[in-house]
Amino acid sequence: MRVAVAGGTGLVGKYVVAELRATGHEPVVLARSHGVDLTTGAGLAEKLSGSDAVIDVVNIVTTRRKTAVDFFSRTTDHLIAAARAGGVGHLVTLSIVGSDEVDFGYYFGKRAQEQLVRASGVPWTVVRATQFFEFPEPMLNSASPVVVVPRMLTRPVAAQDVAETLVEHAVGGPAGMAPEIAGPDQLDMVDMARRIARARGRRRLVVPVTLPGKVGKAMTTGGLLPRGEYLRGRRTFDAHLASLRAA
Ligand SMILES: NC(=O)c1ccc[n+]([C@@H]2O[C@H](COP(=O)([O-])OP(=O)(O)OC[C@H]3O[C@@H](n4cnc5c(N)ncnc54)[C@H](OP(=O)(O)O)[C@@H]3O)[C@@H](O)[C@H]2O)c1
Repeated sequence: MRVAVAGGTGLVGKYVVAELRATGHEPVVLARSHGVDLTTGAGLAEKLSGSDAVIDVVNIVTTRRKTAVDFFSRTTDHLIAAARAGGVGHLVTLSIVGSDEVDFGYYFGKRAQEQLVRASGVPWTVVRATQFFEFPEPMLNSASPVVVVPRMLTRPVAAQDVAETLVEHAVGGPAGMAPEIAGPDQLDMVDMARRIARARGRRRLVVPVTLPGKVGKAMTTGGLLPRGEYLRGRRTFDAHLASLRAA
């Protein structure tokens, strides 16, 4: 199958592209660095042409509601319009566990994206995942020896496990709301950040903060954990740390 990957150069997108290749499919990357701007639609129709499915793992780094809603609405609108025009038979979108209930600014963007996909008329699958193992990395990458990390209960998952699931869905056909995917262990984001810093040999003082109001309460009391049955990623955070130590 020919499968377009919106955001195919990103953290999870690279794994999606690799998994498509490894399973005998043909990935086509949709990203600005590959001549496609999904916020304007520039370059999209040509690249998407002839694809059987699209996996959408495009992203913007923001905590602002308006920025997130604007970005995910525009990129999703353009993908849907191009998929309709090009007869692409399946749109697979990656979302976030709990983003429908926790009122964090960025999550409003994911809600807008999910709503557009559901109403698009293009056969669709939405997979919600928990935080990736790499989630604390941008906070630790600052030059400062003191980093502030939000308290958050999570069941982090390997981006590679998520990528494999997205590819299975793209190949398997539209499933609507697919089972959520989460990792094998429940962890605290602050603890994860400290363990990553140690594994990387970086001296960092990790200062925990609880985000204010209902958002902080929800994040610390399980609002981002899957409810009920979910697909369990097979890779562990310990193995991830071991790979960081070996690198
Ligand atoms: N991080 C997590 O813990 C987590 C957990 C669950 C779900 N998710 C979801 O996973 C998805 C991917 O996240 P990620 O962290 O892997 O992303 P990322 O590393 O930030 O990568 C973002 C990708 O989007 C592309 N992109 C950004 N703006 C674009 C534009 N205007 N036009 C075309 N391409 C654009 C980038 O390529 P160019 O820069 O070349 O354009 C890049 O390939 C997101 O939907 C996120 O909500 C993330």
